[in-house]
Amino acid sequence: MEPILEAAVEVHSHLGPDDERTLADDVLDGLTRPLKELPPKHFYDARGSELFDAICELPEYYQTRTERRILETHADAIVARTGAVELVELGSGSATKTRVLLDAMAEAGTLARYVPVDVSATTVHAVAELFADEYAELSVVGLVADFERHLAHLPDPVGPRLVAFLGGTIGNFPPGSRRRFLRSVGKVLGPGGHLLLGTDLVKEPRVIEAAYNDDAGVTAQFNLNVLHVVNRELGADFDVGAFEHVAFFDREREWIEMRLRAREAQHVRVEALDLEVDFAAREEMRTEISAKFTLERLRGDLAAVGMELVELLTDPDELFAVSLARVA
Ligand code: SAH
Ligand code: AVI
Repeated sequence: MEPILEAAVEVHSHLGPDDERTLADDVLDGLTRPLKELPPKHFYDARGSELFDAICELPEYYQTRTERRILETHADAIVARTGAVELVELGSGSATKTRVLLDAMAEAGTLARYVPVDVSATTVHAVAELFADEYAELSVVGLVADFERHLAHLPDPVGPRLVAFLGGTIGNFPPGSRRRFLRSVGKVLGPGGHLLLGTDLVKEPRVIEAAYNDDAGVTAQFNLNVLHVVNRELGADFDVGAFEHVAFFDREREWIEMRLRAREAQHVRVEALDLEVDFAAREEMRTEISAKFTLERLRGDLAAVGMELVELLTDPDELFAVSLARVA
């Protein structure tokens, strides 16, 4: 793909025709399963990314403000500990908390490069332009890419690298692929490289469920947005108003599950796939899991992929954790 070049900003896109196929593959696979399912990465078109930003501001959604406070408290120590000159951020979104890290790197005089990686082209372009403007001397290389498939396209490091994966997005992986993904991150870091990982923690189910069932209904709109994406991209005819948002905490698996429930029986055609799908009345389709972690699970996952936990940082109420891990 042609890079779009400006002063200290480059944005490269690795999403092309192949990725329409990914949405098509995911929809074909997901809608023909006994429990219908769509993977959460398809939430994030421009509208979905805006809705996620609105979620981050909700009173019920404690994750973002808590993680920001943890970063504010510990950013200097993280930067000193890692000696990082380059920050690679996976699933960067609008990168509102990232400034805390970039400011600490700038303060330490080490800040050289920022590499945001996201499937949402609009957010990568916006963040790349904004940060290149805001931080003098900063080189920004944005990647519009899928972090599950395109990590090999990261540019060569310019010095000690810190990979940040914030927001608890690691919780959105199906459990089987979480460690596979962490292993691939370890590979791009190499021995001695550092990962900064944000994870939401297991807590009182009432608190977690409220965060995914906000009074203003923003999470419901975010969830339903995936149907607009499939309608637009694959010529489907989902009647979005005929589905409702469902989110519940699965106590056994310790994850939130978001689903879309058909209010009544539905017949849906997906033109691009020549696929006809029926939903029974009240049938549910899974659209996201959001795993919540115990400190033991976190340690176990990191150890299993050959990363050692350097610091485990939490807030006083232990709502959220930010782990600094080092590739052994
Ligand atoms: N890091 C930000 C945003 C989290 S929202 C924060 O902490 O607030 C999750 C982000 O990950 C979204 O911007 C979404 O577009 C991106 N994302 C989800 N799946 C992805 C994938 N497979 N590859 C790249 N980005 C992905
Ligand atoms: C991006 N991810 C960590 C969010 C979460 O909480 O799992 C996405 C989200 N889904 C509903 N609200 C927010």
